Amino acid sequence: MNFELNETHRMIQETARQFAHEELAPSADERDEKELFPHEQIKKLGELGFMGMMVPEEYGGAGLDTVSYVIAMEEISKVDASCGVIMSVNNSLVCYGLTKHGTEEQKKKFLVPLATGKKLGAFALSEPEAGSDATNQHTTAVRDGDHYILNGIKNWITNGVNADYIIVIAQTDPSKGHKGISAFIVEKGMPGFSHGKKERKLGIRSSDTVSLTFDNIRVPKENMIGEEGFGFKFAMMTLEGGRIGIASQALGIAQGCLDAALNYSKQRKAFGKPISELQIIQFKLADMATDIEAARLLTYQAAILKEAGLPYAKQAAMAKLWASKTAVKCALEAIQVHGGYGYVREYNVERYLRDAKITEIYEGTSEIQHIVISRALLKD
Ligand code: CAA
Repeated sequence: MNFELNETHRMIQETARQFAHEELAPSADERDEKELFPHEQIKKLGELGFMGMMVPEEYGGAGLDTVSYVIAMEEISKVDASCGVIMSVNNSLVCYGLTKHGTEEQKKKFLVPLATGKKLGAFALSEPEAGSDATNQHTTAVRDGDHYILNGIKNWITNGVNADYIIVIAQTDPSKGHKGISAFIVEKGMPGFSHGKKERKLGIRSSDTVSLTFDNIRVPKENMIGEEGFGFKFAMMTLEGGRIGIASQALGIAQGCLDAALNYSKQRKAFGKPISELQIIQFKLADMATDIEAARLLTYQAAILKEAGLPYAKQAAMAKLWASKTAVKCALEAIQVHGGYGYVREYNVERYLRDAKITEIYEGTSEIQHIVISRALLKD
């Protein structure tokens, strides 16, 4: 196996790193504090091609591979995990599904503006009673001539306030259980569409999370993705790719923690020398670096398999499980290395801890990743 990044990957890494340093770092703390959506920054990410990284160029995307996406996600999330999740949802949960399963008309109408960053997307699967238990969908879509009438509520929708297009999973035939679930593209301005109050969150506070309500929305039948009954499989396949995105976000948070701990330990003196010269600190840094490297390799592996068109559900689940655990652990250790300074807002590490926790929850909790991995093992 070749562990060297190629020239394109190195260029993506450099561009993302510079963008994060110049455009995200100066305002990330303020946006976190005031819960401000990064409108300007997301627009610029679109201009760089980072909102539709894996979309073919003919549909306005950057035409890059999944490893490039992982690399960019790590660099962005290392500095601002809120921007990381906004980017991940647009790339993995919206653009990827449309690229793979959208009609030509859907690609022209929805994918092109999403991939160029002119429009933003969201993915609405979760409901008040359908989080981990995703087949338990209550949102309905009833055929009426050339339209479907959607009714229901979706919960925890990232980008829900700012999204222009939302992929909505709904029951078209409840008698068929998960085989009666379908996927639709809903547009923000459609009559009957509304969102709830922004959730007040522990972390990723500059990304927006809301519930969405569909009250007799008339959605043209052309907005269905795939056939009737394809929606659950579509959601599961989409989430496989999404888990690579969240693993990369977690990887970025973890690396940000290690970088902060390394820097601080070289500057902070105790017992007459920098604390980086104390073995207890050195061992913490070594453990963090080793866990991060394992997370990176797992995430790259899932990305490479996806790119090769091979099955990758198990590897994506492993990458997300390990990277998210590593992010939380590294954030806690980074705070410990900083001591009291880590517990207050002067240094970034308390934000990293608040941001890290969600990576163990969304796009499939760690418990769900255990289910996916163990089922794959037993099936093998
Ligand atoms: N690819 C294709 N098909 C799949 C699949 C996959 N990865 N996983 C499951 N399926 C199919 C199964 O083959 C099965 O189809 P058949 O009956 O035809 O064989 C069907 O889907 C149902 O699968 P299961 O019987 O395995 O269903 P289950 O009820 O046992 O649940 C689960 C499976 C893995 C637990 C699933 O419900 C799951 O992944 N839950 C977590 C949902 C999740 O990740 N939510 C995150 C919300 S999105 C979010 O957070 C976005 C955000 O804004 C950041």
